[in-house]
Amino acid sequence: MNKIAVLTSGGDCSGMNAAVRAVVRAALSRGMGVLGIQKGFSGLLHDHMEELTTRSVSGILQRGGTFLQSARCKELYEEAGQARAAQKLRDLGVEGLVVIGGDGSLKGARSMHLRGIPTIGIPASIDNDIPFTDMSLGVDTALNNILYAVDCLRDTASSHDRAFVVETMGRNCGYLAMAAAVACGAEFAIIPETPYDIDKICRLLRARYSEGRDNSIIMVAEGAALAQDLAEQIKDCIGFETRIMVLGHYQRGGAPSAFDRILAARFGVAAVEALLEGQSGKMVGLSCSSLQLTDLEKVTTSGTRPIDFKLIRLGETLGI
Ligand code: F6P
Repeated sequence: MNKIAVLTSGGDCSGMNAAVRAVVRAALSRGMGVLGIQKGFSGLLHDHMEELTTRSVSGILQRGGTFLQSARCKELYEEAGQARAAQKLRDLGVEGLVVIGGDGSLKGARSMHLRGIPTIGIPASIDNDIPFTDMSLGVDTALNNILYAVDCLRDTASSHDRAFVVETMGRNCGYLAMAAAVACGAEFAIIPETPYDIDKICRLLRARYSEGRDNSIIMVAEGAALAQDLAEQIKDCIGFETRIMVLGHYQRGGAPSAFDRILAARFGVAAVEALLEGQSGKMVGLSCSSLQLTDLEKVTTSGTRPIDFKLIRLGETLGI
């Protein structure tokens, strides 16, 4: 194998740069050239690419976002777009492809594999909704971003007897909201995977207020409810004044945590090694601290990663 390509696709997250760097360094150390495709599959179809060297990936490890840029590519949903993308890679002499991204991007990766391009996927999405990996790239940094924000909100909430409804990302998956609730000691976590009872939440908030508590944090995953709607429902009946914080895209940025940098290094090197071993159509994932390869077919047809009920039980034990 003489030449591989790497791209970042879908929603960006911290650790993508570190993963590209790892892919480039691992490939160059084995004598291969690396083509960096800009703006995901869309950049491939529209010829946005550059040869990557150690110089091109220097100074990016600690930066959030993706220097290759990312995009969601509608053309790749169609057979014709997939065929064009695979042909482009062949014309460019690319013998292996590493795709770094979330569920949609991994579907794109699978389509390249099915069209004869050896392809390995790296899971990257702050939602942690990709199955067959304990953690996706970017999740740990997003969690740390949330904790920083909630710690700040607690300070101001306590000064005014306020409750904050804090909305995290997570379209179909409550991992971020639930894990953040455990890590920041929130009082409630509302997630798409489990039903919630707004009257019970109001009752418990009123009880906290009567006990003289000076603040409350209600974490909500965007896929379960919107912070604004929840605040409207609770504001007049809990004692606390109510404010909201929609964390939005803030969660996706910032310098990657140590965990994400190391995970990116492991995923990136493992992806290159898998290609060299002749593997294709697989995703590198984390399973109980070890790396594992899973067929992209399984990854992309199994639905959203199920919530870890041990995490929910942990939260319940701690009073969430
Ligand atoms: O897939 C990750 C995610 O962060 C979701 O939680 C969120 O709904 C979505 O991306 C928003 O992304 P964008 O605004 O880039 O389309």
